[in-house]
Amino acid sequence: MDKTETITRPSPSKLEVNTLEPYWMPFTGNRHFKRNPRLLASAAGMYYTSDDGRKILDGCAGLWCVNAGHGRREITEAIQRQASELDYAPSFQMGHPLAFELAARLTATLPGDLDHVFYCNSGSEAVDTALKIALAYHQAKGDFRRTRLIGRERAYHGVGFGGISVGGITYNRRAYAAALLPQVDHLPHTHDLAKNAFSRGQPGHGAHFADALEQLCALHGADTIAAVIVEPVAGSTGVLVPPQGYLEKLRQICDKHGILLIFDEVITGFGRLGAPFAAEYFGVLPDLMSVAKGLTNAAVPMGAVFARKPVYDAFMQGPENAIELFHGYTYSGHPLACAAALATLEIHRREGLAERAKSIAGYWEDAIHSLKDARHVIDLRNLGIIGAIELAPRPGQPGARAFETFLECFGRGLLIRVTGDTIALSPPLIVEKAEIDRMAETIRAVLATVS
Ligand SMILES: Cc1ncc(COP(=O)(O)O)c(C=O)c1O
Repeated sequence: MDKTETITRPSPSKLEVNTLEPYWMPFTGNRHFKRNPRLLASAAGMYYTSDDGRKILDGCAGLWCVNAGHGRREITEAIQRQASELDYAPSFQMGHPLAFELAARLTATLPGDLDHVFYCNSGSEAVDTALKIALAYHQAKGDFRRTRLIGRERAYHGVGFGGISVGGITYNRRAYAAALLPQVDHLPHTHDLAKNAFSRGQPGHGAHFADALEQLCALHGADTIAAVIVEPVAGSTGVLVPPQGYLEKLRQICDKHGILLIFDEVITGFGRLGAPFAAEYFGVLPDLMSVAKGLTNAAVPMGAVFARKPVYDAFMQGPENAIELFHGYTYSGHPLACAAALATLEIHRREGLAERAKSIAGYWEDAIHSLKDARHVIDLRNLGIIGAIELAPRPGQPGARAFETFLECFGRGLLIRVTGDTIALSPPLIVEKAEIDRMAETIRAVLATVS
């Protein structure tokens, strides 16, 4: 701001409420959007309603988060009750009952000895929290050399500096390269179109990609590595399903060298794969797990990190009144978020949403792979209730074909998500077969019209 500029009252035109201009939208082409706005006014079950009254089938559970479907009355009422009873309670040196109740309920559903919960407000915060816990864990054990973090190419771990440092999406890192965390290295991604195109479920080829961790151990010294973080299924970079045996191998190598393994389950948690968590689906237990999104069915922002007992126990030393971990958020364990999460867990339990996802996953797989002969399609991938349709990029215009497909699908009443030239689908777990059919039919028809 010019130093001579004084703050004046906004002019009447600035108070105009019907303008789209002041909102700087995230991960959006602002100028394009504001010329062609797509506004969602309400939602129920599997559908959004746009501001012009059209019903939009939700093919992505919002942003991979509304796993139980939209507008769940139990969640809304729990939030309303909680807001009128206790709007906020500080989370430093204080607590409120729901935060403890939720932690107890969550840990009862978690695999193995993942038995402690640290609250935050988003997936990005959950990732940064997990990375900080991993670094501090080794310090707490007196192992001061373990300061290195290993991420993966094509990984998405949110937008905090920790997350983009271990993440592997060039555009998300480029402008901030000067401020990325030091001492970070990356595993190769596992996407191998030449060998694995059109795999159903986990591809058979590629467990060897995990061997790169041994090479990084040799390069840096295994005893300098604090943690490895991976998404069990990479979502935001176009749904990369782990090859058979890959995650198991990562776990073995981490165990061999005393390295913590972090699963970022922000999208795979809460039933998405047909099991409560990917850790169970794959039978691989991480030391730390980051979650968000489906935790509250997205009705109130919330994230969390789950920690195994030895990790938590390592911090519980020294004087009892000393703070063990110098980390936390004003809204850690916010009462409204806890109420929403408890109501969400109850819906999952009562409706068996993970089992439902499992039972419909075969139908989903068939529907995704029915698009093999659709125009532009060069690969199809699926796991649980996740699907990916990779398109050949238009020469010289990467992403353009998929973006036009997204716009046209929206025009025809279907919300899909595109990343690069891949369409990613992840509907609420309450999706019916007829809705799955409609998604496949709409996408096929749109691809036939997109150049
Ligand atoms: C695996 C993963 N980690 C972290 C995040 C970031 O979550 P948030 O947008 O809530 O910060 C995402 C978001 O899509 C994600 O998919």
